[in-house]
Amino acid sequence: MIKDKSVYDPVEEGDGHRVLVMRVVRDPSIFERHAYDVWMRSLGPATDSLRRWWDGTIDTPTFYAEYRRDVSRRALTRLRALERRHGVVTLLCRERRPEPCHRYELVRLYRALYPGGSVINGRHKHRLKGIGGDEVAEWRGPGGPFSVLFDGDGGGAGHDGGQARHALPAAVRESYGDWRLPAFRDRPYVYANFVISHDGRVSFGVPGAVGGGTVSGFNRHDQWLMGLLRARADAILVGDNTLRSEPEHLWTAEAIFPDDAAAFAALRRAEGRRALPLQVFVSFDGNIVPEARVFGLPDLRIVIATTRAGVERARAALGRYPNVDYLAMGEGTVDLGALARALHRDYGAATILCEGGPTLYGSLVRAGQLDDEFLTISPILIGNPRDGAPRPGLVEGVAFEPHAAPTSQLIGVRRAGDHLFLRSRYR
Ligand SMILES: NC(=O)c1ccc[n+]([C@@H]2O[C@H](COP(=O)([O-])OP(=O)(O)OC[C@H]3O[C@@H](n4cnc5c(N)ncnc54)[C@H](OP(=O)(O)O)[C@@H]3O)[C@@H](O)[C@H]2O)c1
Repeated sequence: MIKDKSVYDPVEEGDGHRVLVMRVVRDPSIFERHAYDVWMRSLGPATDSLRRWWDGTIDTPTFYAEYRRDVSRRALTRLRALERRHGVVTLLCRERRPEPCHRYELVRLYRALYPGGSVINGRHKHRLKGIGGDEVAEWRGPGGPFSVLFDGDGGGAGHDGGQARHALPAAVRESYGDWRLPAFRDRPYVYANFVISHDGRVSFGVPGAVGGGTVSGFNRHDQWLMGLLRARADAILVGDNTLRSEPEHLWTAEAIFPDDAAAFAALRRAEGRRALPLQVFVSFDGNIVPEARVFGLPDLRIVIATTRAGVERARAALGRYPNVDYLAMGEGTVDLGALARALHRDYGAATILCEGGPTLYGSLVRAGQLDDEFLTISPILIGNPRDGAPRPGLVEGVAFEPHAAPTSQLIGVRRAGDHLFLRSRYR
């Protein structure tokens, strides 16, 4: 059954699944009240039609005709899937008064397409069953789409030596565009994610402002993208100093963007990943903080990748946790190439995400182990004190020679507000 009402009307038990059908939401209270289960922007009217209708350039029948012409057929199919799944779906928009409003035209169009509301043909069945996270999972998203300014990679199909597979679910493609994961036979795909300030720094480095959250301004698009990147990782690599400076942090998709926890979990299932990514902490000396929250969660599998001497020290500190493995990956330093191969071979990690910090990232780039970098550039300026501890930049602990400095190929630029989201390829 399809119903409709204003998003400002009280929520009622009989609403079933509440679907917001506005293209643009200007009233933040709609987000704050969590007034809907899923936002399907593509069921809203085109902004240009709406503007011309509002300023009287076109009349209501023309506005309705344009709406019928422009509305996403894919979104209507998805709506049908939601009705099948939840029984009752309520369409919501801001309009409180009766007609005219695109919401009413949407109900008419939908009923014309799916008379009776209960018949489902084979094609729809296939879409529902076959794609797992694609049509069935509901994505709340970051609150608006990314603007794709440049996509030089066709969504990721052209990675040398790797076969592209796993397109993103349709709802994500509508908001972010595609990002196809390459699959290599004999090695994992390694990607990194950072947020940097306008002046290239990753942290204020002062108590209460050490992590990336203050750099991005806790930006929802950045956090949602972090969630997506984590949701596609079999293993997440973190330096021991980042663990020390953010001991409360968990490197999981739902921890950074809980609103899409169910959709991230569905995506992991659809792509054949374990429920939670392996948490891998890299340390030279094995001096790991045992009180970090991550160790107290038995569902998380953890690897400490360190040197031979570091294993002894880490085991002494963490021995009481049964979910921790220890890997000796070198003498003077951790060989990150050997680590990637071991994670691939022994833990089945086809995808590895590095979340820094900058010292680990420097090691990774120097070791030539990085495929792609996802870099958020925040509009904030951080600066650097004349005296006192320097505030770290994207890469620390390694200095490249001018004639041998690594360069990357820019393969994607997206924008949301004043934040830029770059994607670059290193190998
Ligand atoms: N803006 C962002 O996106 C972002 C992301 C992550 C982190 N951060 C921030 O960055 C800061 C921490 O950065 P950081 O550079 O000091 O620390 P880090 O990279 O997290 O950790 C550095 C440590 O990792 C170990 N390590 C790295 N590469 C190694 C290798 N090849 N072999 C053996 N050990 C290796 C070493 O451990 P030992 O200590 O044993 O020598 C090294 O001291 C924090 O403030 C954190 O919040 C920001």
